[in-house]
Amino acid sequence: MKWCKIVCGGDVVFIRSLKVKIPAIIIILALISILLTAFVSYDLFTKKIRQQIIDKNETISNTTSDQVSQYLSDAKGVIEYLARNINVKDMDKVKREIDKAYIGYHWIDVVFFMSPEGKIVYSKPHNDIIYERSYLDRDYYNYVMKEKSSYISKVFVGSIVKQPHIMIAVPIIDPITNEVEGIIGGGVPLRAIKKIVNKAYEIYDGDIYVIDTNTKALVSPHDNVYEKMYLKRNVNIDGKTMDLKELAQTYERGTGDYKKDFSNVYISFNKIKNYDGMIIVEKDEKSILDEINVIKSKFLSYLLIILSLILILSISLANSIVRPIKDLVNYTRKISDNIDKDVLNTKDIKLNNNSEIRELEISFRNMAIELYKKIVAFKLMHKREKNLRKYLDNILKSAGSGVIVINYHGKVAIFNKAAQNITGIKSKEIVNKSSDQLLKLLGLSEGMISLKNKKSIEGEFVINNIQNKEIPVDIVISPVLDEDKEIVSIVCILRDLTRIKLLEKELKIKDRLETMGQLSSAIIHEIGNPLAGMTNLLEVLKDNIEEENVREDIISALNDEVDVLNNMVINFLDFTRLSKTERVDANVYHIINSALSILNSQIKYKMIRIIEEISPNIPTIRIDPMGMRQVIVNILKNSIQAVGEYGIIHVKVGPTENNHVEIRIRDNGNGIKKEMIDKIFNPLFTTKEEGNGLGLYVVHNIVIENGGSITVNSEEGKYTEFVLNFKGE
Ligand SMILES: Nc1ncnc2c1ncn2[C@@H]1O[C@H](COP(=O)(O)OP(=O)(O)O)[C@@H](O)[C@H]1O
Ligand SMILES: [Mg+2]
Repeated sequence: MKWCKIVCGGDVVFIRSLKVKIPAIIIILALISILLTAFVSYDLFTKKIRQQIIDKNETISNTTSDQVSQYLSDAKGVIEYLARNINVKDMDKVKREIDKAYIGYHWIDVVFFMSPEGKIVYSKPHNDIIYERSYLDRDYYNYVMKEKSSYISKVFVGSIVKQPHIMIAVPIIDPITNEVEGIIGGGVPLRAIKKIVNKAYEIYDGDIYVIDTNTKALVSPHDNVYEKMYLKRNVNIDGKTMDLKELAQTYERGTGDYKKDFSNVYISFNKIKNYDGMIIVEKDEKSILDEINVIKSKFLSYLLIILSLILILSISLANSIVRPIKDLVNYTRKISDNIDKDVLNTKDIKLNNNSEIRELEISFRNMAIELYKKIVAFKLMHKREKNLRKYLDNILKSAGSGVIVINYHGKVAIFNKAAQNITGIKSKEIVNKSSDQLLKLLGLSEGMISLKNKKSIEGEFVINNIQNKEIPVDIVISPVLDEDKEIVSIVCILRDLTRIKLLEKELKIKDRLETMGQLSSAIIHEIGNPLAGMTNLLEVLKDNIEEENVREDIISALNDEVDVLNNMVINFLDFTRLSKTERVDANVYHIINSALSILNSQIKYKMIRIIEEISPNIPTIRIDPMGMRQVIVNILKNSIQAVGEYGIIHVKVGPTENNHVEIRIRDNGNGIKKEMIDKIFNPLFTTKEEGNGLGLYVVHNIVIENGGSITVNSEEGKYTEFVLNFKGE
C-alpha cells in the first residue's frame, strides 16, 4: 500500500507524462515549424502565383495581339498583292484573279471588286443582292476613297456571307491620274481570329477578349456574344482607375486589376497593330485561391501524414527513453522494498543491459546499502539515546536533590520530583514559567538565576515552600555553556537541609551536654573552696557577732565568696541554656573571657599557662555570642586535652586588614598528624578514647553560620593553631 502511494504520487505519473510529453513536444515543435514554413511559403507562393498570372497575362496578351495583327497584316498583304495584279480594263482577268484568290486562300471568306461608285462589280462567292446595293456607307469605302490606301475595317456582318468578318480594302490606283479605279476587298472571318485566340487557350486558362475601340467584344470566352456585349471594366492602373475606352486612348499595352465580387481580377491588354482593336487577357484571383485551396487541402493531407509519422516516431523515441527509466524505477523499487530487511542480498536482482542505466542502478544500490547502514546505526543510536534518556530521567526523578533546569528562554524546563517535594510546587504548575516567577514563589532574591551570569552561585539559603514554611536549602546554580561559551541553560541543584539542620542542632546539644558533664565535676571541686571559706567565715562571724568591725569585714568577705560562686553558676547555666541563635554586635574579648572562666578549673588543675594577647581596638563583630562562646570553649578544650601539665595556650585577638577580626588559639600540645588534618572537622572523627568527634564539627558549623572562616595549622608533636576570621562591623 505504501509503495502504491509513492508510485501513484510520483514515478508512474512521471513516466506516463514523459511518454506523452516527448511526442507532444516533438509534435508541437514540428507543427510550429511546418506551420511557420507553410505561412511563409504560402505568402511567397501566393505572391509568386499572382506574379506568374500577371506575367502570363502579359505574355498571352502580347502574343495574341501579335498573332492577330500578323494575321491581319498577312491578309492585307495578300489582298494588296491581288490589287496590284489587277487591271480594271480587263474585267475577265479581274474575275479570274478574284476566283483564284478565293480558292487559293482558304481563310478569305469573300473577295470582291468594287467600283469607285461603291457598287460591287464582282464577288466571290456571289449573292445577287450585292449587285443592286451601293456600299457608300461602308467605312472601308470612305477611308480608301479618301486616303487612297489600304484599310482594315471593323467587324461587321457581311451581306454576302452573313458572317461577322473584317474587311480588308485595298484601292486600285491609276498610275497616271492617281485616281481610284476600283477597290479590292477581302473578308477575314471573325472565326479566324477566334481560332488564334483558341490556340492561346491551349496554354492559358484565363479569359481572352478581342474588343474593338468601342469596347465591343469581337471574341469572347462566352459564346455568341457578338453584337450583344460591350466589355466594361474599371481598371486600376498606375494608381488610376479608368474604363477600357480611356485605357485604349492612353496606353499601347499594360497591366492592371479590378475588383469583382470581392476578389481581384488581373488584367493585361495590348492594342492590335494596324487595327482598331485590343486584346484583353484577364484572370480572376479566385482561380488562384481555388488553386491555393487545392494546394492547401493537399498540404493538409501531407501534414496529417507527416504528423502521424512524427507521432509514431516520437512515441517510439519516448518509449526508448522511458523504458530504461521504468526499468530503473522497477529496480530501485525492488531495492527500496528490501531496504529495511536485507539490502545486502539485493545483488541477485538483474541489472539493466543499458550501460548508463546499469551504472545508475549500481550507484543506487550502493547508496541504498549506505543508507541501510546509516539506518541501522541510527536505530542503534536512537535506542542508546532512548535508554540514556530513560536513565537520566530516572536519575532526575529519583535524585535526592531537586533538579531545576532553566532553558535558553529563561523558562523552567525541568522540575524534578525532589524539587517538587522540597518546594511543594507541582512540576506542571511551574514548567514553562519564567525563572523570575519561580524565584518569587520561593522567596529568593530576583536575578539570582540569570542567563547573563556565567558564574556559578553556591550557598545556603532559606526558601518558602508552598505552605509558606521556611526551608533551609543548599543551592548550587550553574550555567551550562556551549562551545562558544554562551549560556544555553541553567541547572539549579536544590538540597533540603532541614534534616541536617535538625541533626546539627541535636549534635550541638549533645556536645554541650557532654561538656557540661565534664565540667560539673570540676565545678563541684571548685565550689568546695569558697564553701569551705564561707563555713570558716561564718564560724568567725558566730564568735564575733558583737564586734561591728569584724562583722562588717566578714560579711564583705562572705559577699566576695558568694560573688565567686554566683559567677561560676551563671557561667555554667549560661552555657547549658539552649538559647535561640541570634546575631548581635558582640565584643570578642568578653566571649573569650567567658569561655576561659568556664574552663578555669581545668586550666588550673593542669597548671596550664594561658597567654592572652588581645588588642584593645578590635572592632565588634556580628555574631551569636552563645554559639561563639561554644566555639572558643570547644577549641580551648581540645588544646587543654592536647597539652600536658604546664602546657601553654596562646590566645591572640587582633584586627586584620579589611576590618576583619582574627582569633588565633595556639597550643604546644601533641599536634595533629598530617593525614588527619583534613578529617578533624568531620562529625564523629576522634583520636581520643573518650572523645566523640563532635567538637570541631560543631565549631565549623557555627563559624560558617556566623559568616566566618576557620583554618588549622599544626605540626605533629609541636603545636596546633586554629585561626578564626570574622568580618568586623
Ligand atoms: N589542639 C589539638 N591538638 C591536637 N589534636 C587536636 C587538637 N584539637 C583537635 N584535635 C584532634 O581533632 C580530633 C577531633 O576533635 P573534636 O572534634 O573536638 O573531637 P574529640 O575532642 O571528641 O576527639 C581530636 O580527636 C584530635 O585528634
Ligand atoms: Mg573535642
